[in-house]
Amino acid sequence: MPQKFQTLKKSKKFSKSSQKWLLRQVNDPFVERAKIEGWRSRATFKIIEIDKKFNLFKKNKIVVDLGCAPGGWSQYCVEKVGMGNVVAIDLLEIPPIAGVNFLQLDFLEKGVDEKIINELKKIKFNKNGYCDLVLSDMASNATGDHNTDHLRIIDLLEQSLNLANRILKENGSFVGKIFQGGSSEEVLKLLRQNFVKVKYFKPESSRKDSSETYLVAQGFKTKNINNLDPK
Ligand SMILES: C[S@@+](CC[C@H](N)C(=O)[O-])C[C@H]1O[C@@H](n2cnc3c(N)ncnc32)[C@H](O)[C@@H]1O
Repeated sequence: MPQKFQTLKKSKKFSKSSQKWLLRQVNDPFVERAKIEGWRSRATFKIIEIDKKFNLFKKNKIVVDLGCAPGGWSQYCVEKVGMGNVVAIDLLEIPPIAGVNFLQLDFLEKGVDEKIINELKKIKFNKNGYCDLVLSDMASNATGDHNTDHLRIIDLLEQSLNLANRILKENGSFVGKIFQGGSSEEVLKLLRQNFVKVKYFKPESSRKDSSETYLVAQGFKTKNINNLDPK
């Protein structure tokens, strides 16, 4: 075992779980690649893979990135769609990304949809506040209580989908993170009603030991929805 890993294992500064996390980080090729390529997170490789598989991004499209911190997905989005066409939110503050309109918000708070829609309306030639793609990589911190964690994950996914239903243009797409056992029949039903195609996809870069996976929905059918009417 290389010297620095042995030192880490012997260190009394870190708890057992922190040691495990740090060891996983230093051994993770995606962490190294993200550093070399200038991405803010290894998570960027997940959206790259999702895009490669589903062809979601095109120049001048408008994207909403929910749960963006530290900003890897947003970096990729702005590179693909162009400066000014990305609205991103997170509970956490992030250092600015050129071309990304960032709002520090709790997505579960009342009135958040309106704030996002107002930000979308500021985009050039987009005064109606619609977008082409809604991404949600949001995950709340685990509480340790399985039922609570499950409900919080479902809540984030359902609320993301509600927003997507309000703001997506016809034929738009939605990507949402879920965890195995975290998908509800209700969410799948809504997705299948409102989109032409709905698929599960687990990128190679998503850790094998994580139950995380993504729902990718394409071909939004606007006729079902009263888009920008307040809830
Ligand atoms: C896995 S990280 C996202 C990584 C990001 N896609 C990237 O590429 O850097 C999940 C994020 O969801 C955010 N999040 C969780 N619950 C949220 C909420 N209620 N409102 C806003 N952001 C939330 C967390 O703060 C965290 O930064």
